[in-house]
Amino acid sequence: MTTAIPPVQSPAVSPITYPTENDISAGRRLELVVLLNQRLASAVDLQLQLKQAHWNVKGPHFIGLHELFDKVSESVESSVDTIAERIVQLGGVAEGTARIAALRSRLEEYPLNIANGSAHVEAVAKALSDFGHDARQTIEQASELNDADTADIFTEVSRGIDKWLWFVEAHTQAEK
Ligand SMILES: [Fe+2]
Repeated sequence: MTTAIPPVQSPAVSPITYPTENDISAGRRLELVVLLNQRLASAVDLQLQLKQAHWNVKGPHFIGLHELFDKVSESVESSVDTIAERIVQLGGVAEGTARIAALRSRLEEYPLNIANGSAHVEAVAKALSDFGHDARQTIEQASELNDADTADIFTEVSRGIDKWLWFVEAHTQAEK
């Protein structure tokens, strides 16, 4: 007999916004903090997914992929830090623990049962693409909230993700 696992509810983002002389209104800052905390969760998840790939990839392209996945992970870690610090600049609380990331991430879980390079390339490309989709949307959403700085952060994040997606997908594009 299997025990039913109760559905897990993603906890609401803390409504705390600290007083600040930042001239974005408190209402807008709260909306931005909620949006950014979701993206932070996905970014933390993405960084760990890249480590998962880095540790477990095998096959003839091992060393290249092992090193590439680590570089992508380092780059995403830098984005995690930038996103978290933007939340705090806006007066919010950056909610970046592993448990919160697991509950709020919009990425699919990384497959644990794959080994060969092409399977990891496919899984990493999917994760980068899904995160990149949300990053691009965040540029628009931040612009609608009149926060050009957050839009700029996500333009940089999105540009970086597109570059890494190229690096990863180039392993599959040599058919001709
Ligand atoms: Fe390592």
